[in-house]
Amino acid sequence: MNTRPAERVAKPTSAPSTVLVTGGAGFIGSHACVELLDHGYEVIVVDDHSNSTPQVFSRMERIAGRFVGAVYELDIRDRPALSAVFDRHSVDAVVHFAAHKAVGESTRMPIDYYDINVGGTTALLSAMHAHGVHQLVFSSSCSLYGDAGHGPLDEATPVAPTNPYANSKWLCEQILSDVCHRRPDFTVLCLRYFNPAGAHPSGLLGEDPCGTPDNLMPYVAQVAIGRQERLRVFGDDYPTPDGTAIRDYLHVMDTVEAHRVALDHLADGPGMRVFNLGAGKGSSVLEVIAAFSAACGRPIPYDVVGRRSGDVPELVADARAVARAWDWHPTRDLAAMCRDAWHFQQLNPHGYAGSARRPGTKE
Ligand code: UD1
Repeated sequence: MNTRPAERVAKPTSAPSTVLVTGGAGFIGSHACVELLDHGYEVIVVDDHSNSTPQVFSRMERIAGRFVGAVYELDIRDRPALSAVFDRHSVDAVVHFAAHKAVGESTRMPIDYYDINVGGTTALLSAMHAHGVHQLVFSSSCSLYGDAGHGPLDEATPVAPTNPYANSKWLCEQILSDVCHRRPDFTVLCLRYFNPAGAHPSGLLGEDPCGTPDNLMPYVAQVAIGRQERLRVFGDDYPTPDGTAIRDYLHVMDTVEAHRVALDHLADGPGMRVFNLGAGKGSSVLEVIAAFSAACGRPIPYDVVGRRSGDVPELVADARAVARAWDWHPTRDLAAMCRDAWHFQQLNPHGYAGSARRPGTKE
């Protein structure tokens, strides 16, 4: 696993310089930290490691060729601990990834989802406000569009969340919008992700969920490497060309580039703005299986089973608003996502388990 330190690219002078990343050890968060380190930001991470591992930090630092400023293992609902982080660092802006995100689990544990996702966000807002930090990039989700129907969805699509996870993201957006309305010193950029997938091209960072994966791409990768026997395809009776559900997969590297670009645009003005982050192209479950089979050079065994509760037939982004506003465009396709996810899986057949920890991180 050889990686060269990435070429350092200067950030615009108007952009914040010290960024607190909540959930910075997670799938998207870890890639975002590398993207920010590569662009000259100071990065402070808080993460409770409920679905991540501290082993990821030494890998981030190996890719970026520099250190994360500080890492705090804490739950953002722990208000005194979070406040102490803001006391210790002069934070300019926050990128807030920390949340639970398993749709099925959210239907079984709604109270926990509201507590962690909504309560975590209000605790973060309180700490930010108390410390004079008013710039936030928020991880939202396309899931709040619910079963909005056929065709690309723009940001004006009526919101209709179908599960507590999606509803928790919608509640956070409403809170953030109201805060921005009442407190003009706040600037919030909400990014509604469609389906981030893939991995860092080095093979050092990728998606390594704790336990059995819920999401399609990491599950397929684990079938390909032999950790899972067969994929279950949840339904082939959807009103789609091949009967399987369609999603808009976006390379995690494109996803995190958009976050870095968002930081550059926090200075555009106060208030809240909402953008879809997607590729604008749908792929069915069978198309993902075919693309991954091509990437790994072997067939992915699967069985078609019943639909998964809470799933919708199709979710594809109309992502033109972010392209117009920031001239940001994704550049990596499904083949690249599968190639990079497979590269990570091959180099890390058991995920991050067993790799070196960053000195000083807790067990
Ligand atoms: C969901 C959320 C999304 C969230 C993401 C994070 C919705 C509509 N979307 O994405 O906002 O960011 O979780 O976890 O709530 N599939 C299989 N077999 C599997 C796994 C998945 O067939 O083993 C199918 C699913 O039925 C779905 C597609 O693959 O059609 C993608 O599923 P998944 O990767 O779990 O993402 P979403 O459910 O779309």
